[in-house]
Amino acid sequence: MNKINHVAIIMDGNGRWGYKKKKSRNYGHREGLNTVKKIIDESINNKIKYLTLFAFSTENWKRPKKEIKYLFNLLEAFLHKKINDLIEKNIKLKIIGNKKIFSNKLKSILSNSERITKKNNGLQINLALNYGFKEELVTSVNKLIKTKKKVFEKDISNNLYTFNIPDPDILIRTGNTKRLSNFMLWQIAYSEIFFIKKLWPDFSKKDYKKILNTYYKTKRNFGGL
Ligand code: IPE
Ligand code: IPE
Ligand code: MG
Repeated sequence: MNKINHVAIIMDGNGRWGYKKKKSRNYGHREGLNTVKKIIDESINNKIKYLTLFAFSTENWKRPKKEIKYLFNLLEAFLHKKINDLIEKNIKLKIIGNKKIFSNKLKSILSNSERITKKNNGLQINLALNYGFKEELVTSVNKLIKTKKKVFEKDISNNLYTFNIPDPDILIRTGNTKRLSNFMLWQIAYSEIFFIKKLWPDFSKKDYKKILNTYYKTKRNFGGL
């Protein structure tokens, strides 16, 4: 049986879910947060070490200001209200993505959340915020060219936001779309990919467990036999 170290999720479909319920896209985002909580709990139950959640991409700035504001307010409120729950659950929080663009207030909320969960050694949640793989790679390359040395694979890996984190074993994308949207294109080189039709707010613990069970039984070759 395969061991699961790392699950990465492209949580897609909140907006469409909101419309489906004859409400707003933002209503869908709020409901999506409930799915996040369920999936965190189920990841802990399955002793998964790393859970990476794609929450906001470098391309999502193209969305209406009102929606962007709602998403970041939701994030701030979550970190404010739930940080004690994260500590209690022994969760370590890490932000991946380019934080430079954020307001000082948000930067300090994020770094405080990382700091106070730093010593936890249960599930590590990598929250991808203003994350895009092309930006991540360019940042990594710009650090490396300064060293003026020949570059090896491990040098690239060690300069990505995900340094020291094993590559995802599983990548899940909900929302009935089969694309990667600039998410962890290096790290998912050998991940088992699951494209799920359900919209993120409808994704359940049962759906998640089904994926984990399929993965446990999958023969992984990594190019070998
Ligand atoms: C959530 O789903 C992803 C985020 C950017 C937070 P969407 O907001 O992309 O929802 P759809 O795909 O438009 O339905
Ligand atoms: C990917 O979803 C980004 C997140 C889940 C945060 P999008 O909804 O932004 O992807 P596209 O634009 O449909 O490719
Ligand atoms: Mg979408």
